[in-house]
Amino acid sequence: MKQWREVATMAEFETTDRKVVELDEDEQVCLIKKEGEWFAISAWCSHEKASLVLGDITDHEIMCPLHGARFDLRTGRNLSMPAVRPIPSYDVKVEGDKIFVLV
Ligand code: FES
Repeated sequence: MKQWREVATMAEFETTDRKVVELDEDEQVCLIKKEGEWFAISAWCSHEKASLVLGDITDHEIMCPLHGARFDLRTGRNLSMPAVRPIPSYDVKVEGDKIFVLV
């Protein structure tokens, strides 16, 4: 059963728009704040294991810095080659100063 897990505070996003959260040894999440919206996706591309953390974001898409595959920030859906598989995405909620992801 999924549970909300506290992963960050609002203060951490005063000078950045993203943070990597290690949920466990095999699961790292990239938490992103964009224009007042929150997104949480896998920190890793589904093509090869490249980090998405530094990927350019346009609208609701993030582009892998290694080969340029794009993913939907809202769903993790793969939108362009060379990625042929989606990445995990997570629900996010904010309560006061605390940010949670559903895992
Ligand atoms: S590793 Fe991300 S597109 Fe190739």
